[in-house]
Amino acid sequence: MAQLRIALASDHGGFEQKEALKPWLEDLGFTVDDFGCDSEESVDYPDYAKRAARAVAQGDDDYGVLVCGTGIGMMIAANKVHGIRAANLTSTEFAKLSREHNNANIATLSGRFTSLEDNKAILEAFLGADFSGDRHARRVEKIMTIETEE
Ligand code: RB5
Repeated sequence: MAQLRIALASDHGGFEQKEALKPWLEDLGFTVDDFGCDSEESVDYPDYAKRAARAVAQGDDDYGVLVCGTGIGMMIAANKVHGIRAANLTSTEFAKLSREHNNANIATLSGRFTSLEDNKAILEAFLGADFSGDRHARRVEKIMTIETEE
């Protein structure tokens, strides 16, 4: 798990958990690039999702972790950036499968409906799993081709 770079971002709904996840990820050996926000003052999640997702798409970061109230807005916004496969994760099983089957490169999390401890377990499952390739590679390739057809 070590030496990888993570683009971390949140809106106000995910700020508290982002602040807690940052040192936790660093203790696990990840380098964390924090794209904000910087307080619980109300902000617009697409602004933060876009910055972090672009860093992942450009290869500056290996994975993204985005936290908002539900994780849903962050997921929708991040998936607008070409090259991004963001999955909103609410269980360790989905976290593992999002890596193995979908080669997800961004995990989006709920800061309001999922506890910090559960989100840590979800991220451990996400960051500890590898893409299975094989038939899943063909399917992910078809997903990415959609971007070139738009
Ligand atoms: C902000 O109130 C809230 O809408 C946002 O954090 C997120 O849940 C959107 O999907």
